[in-house]
Amino acid sequence: MGIMRTKSVERAIRDSEEPEFKLKRSLGPLDLMVFGVGVIIGTGIFVLTGQAAANYAGPGVAISFLVSGFACALAALCYAEFASTVPVAGSAYTFSYVGLGEFVAWMIGWDLILEFTVGAATVAKGWGGYLDSVLASLGLAIPEALSNSPVPGSPDAPTGYFDLPAALIIVVMSVVLVLGITLSSRVNQVITALKVLLVLAIIAIGVFYIDPANLTPVIPPAEPGSYGETALSTPLFLEVFGIETTFGFLGVFTGAALVFFAYIGFDVVATTSEEARTPQRDLPIGILGALAVCTVLYVAVSVVLTGILPYDQLGGDAPVADALAATGLTGFNFVISVGILVGLTVVVMILLLGQSRVAFAMSRDNLLPRWFAGVHPRYRTPYRLTIATAVVAALLTGFLPLNALGELVNIGTLAAFVLVSIAVVVLRRSRPDLPRAFKVPLMPVLPVLSAVVSFIVMTFLPLETWLRFGGWMVFGVLVYFLYSRHASRLARDSGGEEP
Ligand code: ALA
Repeated sequence: MGIMRTKSVERAIRDSEEPEFKLKRSLGPLDLMVFGVGVIIGTGIFVLTGQAAANYAGPGVAISFLVSGFACALAALCYAEFASTVPVAGSAYTFSYVGLGEFVAWMIGWDLILEFTVGAATVAKGWGGYLDSVLASLGLAIPEALSNSPVPGSPDAPTGYFDLPAALIIVVMSVVLVLGITLSSRVNQVITALKVLLVLAIIAIGVFYIDPANLTPVIPPAEPGSYGETALSTPLFLEVFGIETTFGFLGVFTGAALVFFAYIGFDVVATTSEEARTPQRDLPIGILGALAVCTVLYVAVSVVLTGILPYDQLGGDAPVADALAATGLTGFNFVISVGILVGLTVVVMILLLGQSRVAFAMSRDNLLPRWFAGVHPRYRTPYRLTIATAVVAALLTGFLPLNALGELVNIGTLAAFVLVSIAVVVLRRSRPDLPRAFKVPLMPVLPVLSAVVSFIVMTFLPLETWLRFGGWMVFGVLVYFLYSRHASRLARDSGGEEP
């Protein structure tokens, strides 16, 4: 029973067609794109932009967005080829089960669990920040002790006991999911449209309040110093090369490693391939389209925010609200902040749902205990998975700072990008016969470039993020060898193909 055993593409598709696990194919290309934009625009643009500008890149955060957008576009092409070849649920997890064998698939699946669970916790933090800001503008401030985590994100950030609003939104959205209240495609479309309108409004109105002096120099000059008290908070790249500066050209990359979070979600579109009407054609359109729209919006928002306020004033919990407050447009600020709250609610929900989809696919293969995937007798939802995820995400969001959570998600997602990019090359070689509606151009240069670029962005994440990620993956290896390898459905069935 080799850990390299792979699922054949035919089997992956067949497994997904078993009636008890079948999902309905109802989504078209526009639905996928809207779904993509719906999950992509969130805490990344509304909060992390400000943090990246204040701490690392200044107005150069717009360039940071281009850097991480470039990494995502390369990875998106690889995702699109994979999703159009293996159109079943579970995203990168399923792709790699087919391309790289069970062990790699397990590691990616394990990694995706991290991405979605910690991702939901991260977006919840952003939600909490905007709730504070909205309530404060009504004169109803939440005590700091109950709206901040005990571990500070930066030396001057306030601390508290527990971030209650952030944990609350996780719990509420999980209850909604357990009750099986799905976000109908229509409601999602309306909320996504609202979110895009908000962003457009921020750009269209904010542009009149830009002070060009705030935007020069675009990249603040490098200063001697380090990013924290200990080496642990230094980006790996700077640590390895013994560089002791902040800001400057390298700060733009450090910023890119943080704002990368803003793009997370286009890979979620690939998890819906079982529900796409014509996955071969629609997935690439949905994934690449969503990414293109967001990149343009992000660069524009960064220019506007860093243009309105000097970048060192954008490090708060709700930077868009802070910038708009500086314009004096109080009513507009209030409406935008409330809109952001509504928009972020949906992102939390979709990420929690993404987690249950990946875990569902893993349980279907018996790599996670089937018990987890059990559906509620009355609501017909995977309630055990949802509740377990909610407990973990609520604790994370309550106790840890935003940046630490976001960076952990980023490293996990970038690692998945590296593996998916390699898997595309491997699958082209091992199964050249498969129909591919979408093919990555310039094979194998482009996927290799994709893996390299994602890896470089990873090296700009702090050492402590690498250690946390390493710890989670080592734990995953243990679970695989102690449990999943033996339980695996592929290993048990005679249908399991050995390489
Ligand atoms: N990209 C999503 C966000 O920024 C997850 O919130």
